[in-house]
Amino acid sequence: MNDKFETHEHDVLIIGAGGAGLRAAIEALGHGASVGIVCKSLLGKAHTVMAEGGIAAAMANVDAADDWRTHFGDTMRGGKFLNNWRMAQIHAQEAPDRVRELEQWGALFDRTDDGRILQRAFGGHSFKRLCHVGDRTGLEMIRTLQDRGVQMGIDVYMECTITRLLSDAGRISGAFGYWRENGRFVVFKAKSIVLATGGIGKAWPITSNSWEYTGDGMALAYEAGAELMDMEFVQFHPTGMVWPPGVQGLLVTEAVRGEGGILRNKNGERFMERYDPKRMELSTRDVVARAIYTEVKEGRGTEHGGAFLDISHKPAEYVKRKLPSMYHQFLELADVDITKGPMEVGPTCHYMMGGVRVEAETAASTLPGLFAAGEVAAGLHGANRLGGNSLSDLLVFGRRAGVAAAEYAKKQSVASVDSAQIDAAEREALAPFERSTNENPYMLHADLQQTMQSLVGIFRIEQDLQSALGKIAALKERAQRLSISGSRMFNPGWHLCADLKSMLTVSEAVTLCALARKESRGAHSRLDFPKFDPIWGKQNNIISRRGGEMSLQQRPTPEMPQELQKLVDGEKGAGA
Ligand code: FUM
Repeated sequence: MNDKFETHEHDVLIIGAGGAGLRAAIEALGHGASVGIVCKSLLGKAHTVMAEGGIAAAMANVDAADDWRTHFGDTMRGGKFLNNWRMAQIHAQEAPDRVRELEQWGALFDRTDDGRILQRAFGGHSFKRLCHVGDRTGLEMIRTLQDRGVQMGIDVYMECTITRLLSDAGRISGAFGYWRENGRFVVFKAKSIVLATGGIGKAWPITSNSWEYTGDGMALAYEAGAELMDMEFVQFHPTGMVWPPGVQGLLVTEAVRGEGGILRNKNGERFMERYDPKRMELSTRDVVARAIYTEVKEGRGTEHGGAFLDISHKPAEYVKRKLPSMYHQFLELADVDITKGPMEVGPTCHYMMGGVRVEAETAASTLPGLFAAGEVAAGLHGANRLGGNSLSDLLVFGRRAGVAAAEYAKKQSVASVDSAQIDAAEREALAPFERSTNENPYMLHADLQQTMQSLVGIFRIEQDLQSALGKIAALKERAQRLSISGSRMFNPGWHLCADLKSMLTVSEAVTLCALARKESRGAHSRLDFPKFDPIWGKQNNIISRRGGEMSLQQRPTPEMPQELQKLVDGEKGAGA
């Protein structure tokens, strides 16, 4: 061990231990690689558990007419045709096998009367497609993958924050980070790296994401030279808790609506009739979130600024069986019995559709040796993700990233890690201890969240986005002056300094892309450009680092082959 840092070496290093990271680790191990998996938090504590309502896979257990083609069409339609069509095809084709495999590894699912995996309805899915375990599906998935990975012998490095990727002659060579517990530095040497760090929700104050989700993977990839794509597409889940204030933003699963929950405003109107009379509560998330936001803004919201979501017309036993977590969550946190009366809900920042640009087949980023899977990667979901497609995404592309990273590693010798890069990473990490400027990371975080909530939220407009860019630039300057006291032991203020760097990077990228896209599509709603623009429907926003600055360009979306085009014919750009 070096006296300044310890070193570990693996063929494949996985950063992030949610569903995508664990699935990648299992596959890379299966392909003979030595695998290390690093997580900022404790193993098992991942945003995957917040996908409560189910895994979308065209198993056709409940609706026999379902198949991958319909799932593909729904995903493209939900994503307003900005999806990477090949990712959407692979995802729809492979999801059923990934679910069956999960079951073989011990996952317990709810059952049909004849013993098959039970599937439920969800917004934007044409058939009952979500394989589920009550409203705890993500938790069951993590439990299963964790058991399997640990049994197979993955080396797990918990409570470790990675602050920089290391490269050698244009390819990945490792990562630099520190132990959150004692602040000591650690260097991982690796032939390939899979990013599976999830999303960016903590850049907004009202979010279903917990403290870990600060955009680290996207910022690390960007800093290392990889491209980011379509960062303007941030999903606000329509239903988070709005009351009491301490739990504002906590997820209320879409499974409530999937099981027949009804949305009403304070006047008792079933307002979805005005926004999507055909699909009503099971419209896509972008539409339902905008509907609730509009009801509140126009004075028809509930006492605490939300809408009512009611499932109490269903038998109490049914509600408790199908939605046990929701029942307890509301009883314990809000003193509301959801079998007797409605919940109060409102939009909460939940998921990032944009992220690291990857190849569909391999999950390879544009930087050799760097792969990305799950929420940190862009492409599959286009402009808006359908509920349940996140869990299948993690399994399908986590597995593919694991294969590709292991195969890549086989062809490489160990790259050398550059001591100049390590020295620079150390200096950067320690800088807040050296300053005495009184620039407080918590204040800066609150100001960033306020900026993103008020200026880069559900509805956007040029003037606000310009103002947000100015504010983010000022926040970045303040970030250069962040100062903290105390030691490196258990120092949450210091941890936040690292997180802020990532959040500022991704916030700038989101705002730049949102400003550029002069149309409304999926989760990106411009009040000044309320319609689809066919030209924008055929281009992705690409972010890269040039000369130390963030640069944005547009690139044409890949052309969809005829046989797939036929599956969605007449709909391209319609955004139905
Ligand atoms: O509402 C939910 O259960 C969340 C699911 C998802 O984000 O896929």
